[in-house]
Amino acid sequence: MSSTTGSSLGRLGLIVTLGGVISLIIMFFWSPPPKYCPLPLPRPEQNKSVESKSSLTDAEEDKPVLLIWIWPLNHKFNFSECKTMYNIDGCHLTDDRSLYSNADAVLIFHKAISWHLTNLPPSPRPPFQKWIWFHVESPTNTHKIPGLENLFNLTLSYRHDADIPVRLNLITRKKPDEDFVIPKKDKLVCWIVSNNGARSGVGTRNKYYQELSKYIQVHMFGKAYANFLGYDEYYPTLASCKFYLSFENSIHKDYITEKINGPLAAGTVPVVLGPPRKNYENFVPGDAFIHVNDFPDAKSLAEYLLQLDKDEEAYRRFFNWRKYLSPTPHLILKKQEFILPICTACDHIARHREYKEAHDIYEWYFN
Ligand SMILES: *[C@@H]1O[C@H](CO)[C@@H](O)[C@H](O)[C@H]1NC(C)=O
Ligand SMILES: *[C@@H]1O[C@H](CO)[C@@H](O)[C@H](O)[C@H]1NC(C)=O
Ligand SMILES: *[C@@H]1O[C@H](CO)[C@@H](O)[C@H](O)[C@H]1NC(C)=O
Repeated sequence: MSSTTGSSLGRLGLIVTLGGVISLIIMFFWSPPPKYCPLPLPRPEQNKSVESKSSLTDAEEDKPVLLIWIWPLNHKFNFSECKTMYNIDGCHLTDDRSLYSNADAVLIFHKAISWHLTNLPPSPRPPFQKWIWFHVESPTNTHKIPGLENLFNLTLSYRHDADIPVRLNLITRKKPDEDFVIPKKDKLVCWIVSNNGARSGVGTRNKYYQELSKYIQVHMFGKAYANFLGYDEYYPTLASCKFYLSFENSIHKDYITEKINGPLAAGTVPVVLGPPRKNYENFVPGDAFIHVNDFPDAKSLAEYLLQLDKDEEAYRRFFNWRKYLSPTPHLILKKQEFILPICTACDHIARHREYKEAHDIYEWYFN
């Protein structure tokens, strides 16, 4: 009897101690909730049938609301695509402004903000609400609209150090893919150029291309070259080239776009012009691409490509990464351009409730 009491007392002590340790751990990791509320206590046993019945609807209601204040370039899409394309459905996405006062986060597209800030959401701003600065262009192509510096809580950008970085990453695979076959090639070097406006900062890449094209033939496609590819021709065309010029329009840290993702996904070797090789290697294995800076000039790059054209074994080595990594093709329709960033924001809002301010976004973005 007494030993039973002793052991149950001991067990009680153990449970109390464990409970204490767990609460301490929870207190340590628990981020301050937006409004003061006591620490959640462990939930008591509940009537299982009632619980399972109501939890689904509770979960639905509990989803944070993400309000798209202005559709970027009016490229609307069906919100269910976040689930079907990226398996993201942790938030309640809406473009219904009447839900503003209940929105946990508001997505504000930088390029749509008027110069006098008249189309920003109204005051007062609900204290729990976070504003997301939504901008996926490089600094070269960014207008510094005054007055936005200290309005936002979160940044959404291609930048790796944004609060919500947007990027299609190569995904590791545990089971090696032994079946990858390099697609059939009938062209050596290709380049698709959609925007060649001088103001977008394309001077560097055009100069490099002009020099390169003196020594090697480049097949040009795209709006700028009256050789416009249909969307369904994009991946097959990339696949048919041995090399693809993944030349960014402007050179900035982390500004590594779908221009490299396309050839990686299609089974083509990207020749990149952009930030330094080391920056690319944060996202793509170093032996999966060729960097123009690896060569003293365009002529020696051209010679290297011509040499690889004759050396099948060396060319094949550029695809070794395929065994352990999977690329994800990006969406190519113009109107699909913002699906990934918006779904990524939804995913972030679903996982993060912590307080946050984004101070001096331009200081961060331009320096
Ligand atoms: C669980 O709830 C149902 C329906 O409300 C009720 O009939 C049942 O008695 C409850 N069971 C227990 C163990 O409380
Ligand atoms: C969005 O897609 C879902 C699933 O395909 C469909 O049921 C729904 O009607 C669509 N909504 C709109 C507004 O088109
Ligand atoms: C959001 O940021 C603003 C200003 O930057 C700040 O006043 C507000 O408290 C922040 N709100 C949350 C919920 O993080």
